[in-house]
Amino acid sequence: AIPAGVVALDDYETLAQARLSPQAYAYFSGGAGDEATLRWNRAAFEKVQLAPRVLGDFKGGGTELSLFGQSFAHPILVAPTAHHRLAVPEAEIATVVGAGGARAGMVASTESDVMLEEIARAARTPLWFQLYIQHDRGFTAELVRRAEAAGYGALVVTVDAPVHSLRNREQRAGYVGPKLSEHANLRGLHTRHIAEAALGESLMFRGFLDVAARWEDIAWLRSLTLLPILLKGILTAEDAETALSHGVDGLIVSNHGGRVLDTVPASLDALPSVVRQVAGRVPVLMDGGIRRGTDVLKALAFGARAVLVGRPCLYGLAVAGPAGVAHVLHLLRCEFEVAMVLTGCRTLADIGPQVIWPADRPGG
Ligand code: FNR
Repeated sequence: AIPAGVVALDDYETLAQARLSPQAYAYFSGGAGDEATLRWNRAAFEKVQLAPRVLGDFKGGGTELSLFGQSFAHPILVAPTAHHRLAVPEAEIATVVGAGGARAGMVASTESDVMLEEIARAARTPLWFQLYIQHDRGFTAELVRRAEAAGYGALVVTVDAPVHSLRNREQRAGYVGPKLSEHANLRGLHTRHIAEAALGESLMFRGFLDVAARWEDIAWLRSLTLLPILLKGILTAEDAETALSHGVDGLIVSNHGGRVLDTVPASLDALPSVVRQVAGRVPVLMDGGIRRGTDVLKALAFGARAVLVGRPCLYGLAVAGPAGVAHVLHLLRCEFEVAMVLTGCRTLADIGPQVIWPADRPGG
């Protein structure tokens, strides 16, 4: 059941912290390094002011959208996050049931605690698979086949985390994640043990990056599947253009929730230049720091077609299981609809730069 007094997403974080182990909370909430990007993801939304409009006509309005031929009731999706068993025993099954309750699409992580097939069986809304390209490309191809067979509607290839990021909050709390080969989806994968760098030794350049994903792997994936392919973790116009030249169907502007390279810009700040470069050729989505319906509105006004929400879903999951996930998404959707109405937007197509106060518009 939903605890009394929970009226906004941030309320869930406070309650979740009290229920999670310090290690799990550090893993869910933390970012890389000094967590500057993590803070900026929020600050970027707060510094943008909205322009209200009055007395509009909202007959026949709504928040529906279509992406890759799939119908969504609203533009708020569950971002791919790993290890939901840290929150509840039912893990991603609970999450996908919650997403279904709120009629939200969901992206399931390669590093889920239950197998991708089980998640798909419990899904009632569009479900996409987040793929980490493994050093074993044969195993990676098998993952793609499994996602296709299970009915996933798109592949979200996360490209911003080729190496383990340095998350000091996790380290200080003593969080240790499972080994790659212990992940539900990765059983049978031969992983190569990457020893910590000895003093005086290079951490990164000891050969294991030789098999990390490269652009040619995107072309290879393209040849492997008919599923729409989105690249997640694009922040620059240059990478956006290269992605398009490799035939991808969509982009997700993201800094991985500030968890990978600290001091890269907030996702919202990076969004306009990617949107300008893409110029409508493919849909651009974004994530990072979405906590309010006004944030969803701002992201769409800056050119995103939809947004993804990471940590708040985990906090809802930890507090109240599927009901908590559904409630988080429902609160966000309600706030978003109120913000649409108060800025004079009847449908998503009406949301443009005009909802932003002139001085805060991209390029304004
Ligand atoms: C993530 N994220 C992530 N992304 C991904 O592509 N694959 C993954 O397995 C994970 N795992 C993961 C775990 C946890 C605990 C978090 C918080 C995040 C990143 C995620 O998809 C998304 O980019 C951010 O969470 C968005 O930022 P917010 O909404 O958390 O601010």
